[in-house]
Amino acid sequence: MMKHQDLSRQIIGTLRHKDSVLVLGIESSCDETAASVVKNGRTILSSSIYSQIDLHTVYGGVVPEIASRAHVEKIDVVVDLALDDAGITLEDIDVVAVTCGPGLVGALLVGVSYAKALAFAAHKPLIGVNHIEGHICANYLTHPHLEPPFLCLVVSGGHSHILSVTRDDEYRVIGCTRDDAAGECFDKAARVLGLPYPGGPSLDKIAQEGNFEALVLPHPHTQGRYDFSFSGLKTAFINALHTMDQQQKPYEVKDMAASFRKAVVSSLVEKTMMAAEDLKAPCLLMAGGVSANRLLRKTMQEECDTRGITLYMPDLALCGDNAAMIAAAGYRKAMRGQFDDLNLNAQPALRLI
Ligand code: KG4
Ligand code: ZN
Repeated sequence: MMKHQDLSRQIIGTLRHKDSVLVLGIESSCDETAASVVKNGRTILSSSIYSQIDLHTVYGGVVPEIASRAHVEKIDVVVDLALDDAGITLEDIDVVAVTCGPGLVGALLVGVSYAKALAFAAHKPLIGVNHIEGHICANYLTHPHLEPPFLCLVVSGGHSHILSVTRDDEYRVIGCTRDDAAGECFDKAARVLGLPYPGGPSLDKIAQEGNFEALVLPHPHTQGRYDFSFSGLKTAFINALHTMDQQQKPYEVKDMAASFRKAVVSSLVEKTMMAAEDLKAPCLLMAGGVSANRLLRKTMQEECDTRGITLYMPDLALCGDNAAMIAAAGYRKAMRGQFDDLNLNAQPALRLI
């Protein structure tokens, strides 16, 4: 039997000679079942997403068991749809890429098992993709000529990191959250305000109409110059609401949402700009679900313009979980010969660095 390394070399040789390399991406790490076909790591031929929002709304958050079951029910349909929309069959696919972590273990296992079966049955190379790397790679789909090096702010439900990306696969953590992630905080704040799940987008929407000066919140302090801390802010916000409720002081939900959003965004922008200035970064990327936040996009753009820094953000449709970003990351791994074999497993706590 051919050794894995030799096989990788053989596949990479074949792929490099092709004009068009088609990667099928599969994503099932949380509450979205998604599949996508991407050409040469840059062009989306199809992207199908089945969102489980309706299933989890009644519980106010993602229920892991329900998520896994829904992935099992939908993955087949979603993959077929992605192939149909791209006008191709499984035969035409060059590589199968799948999110293998981080995420909910049961949810990840559905995608990983499906991708392994598909790759085995159709004799296609398999690649496991780190979900966070996928979020970063969403930018390659929106900005066709983008290449590292760059500084990157990753803000999602579980991550708030400033990374220095010198090359594909070469990440250095410049700063990170000391406690909660920004997305997690938005979700919690939305919940205490009685806003519907998913909290972050709901809070962002209502905050557009609110007065951000209505509630004064503490400015988070951290020891690390580029680190974030959101748990103190979150607690101060919840306490302020409780106090107003107890004292029967009226307040507008939209004003509270605007004040909270402003505090989180200010902290994200301030620390990122400090890192960008200190490291003399010519360009900055944003990635992850929270990069859809309207105030964050606007403020970051203004601050980057002032400093002459080029800002890259994914299209709004590519900020949240999707499979096109997994296919884009898979393509780059394929071109580096980083294939997996059928021992690929779900890694719920997979780290980028
Ligand atoms: O990247 P993502 O889709 O999933 C993870 O990998 O975690 O991020 C989801 C997070 C959730 O916490 C969600 O509330 C937050 O991103 N989010 C937002 C917005 N859209 C999504 N937070 C603030 N404003 C938004 N517009
Ligand atoms: Zn995500």
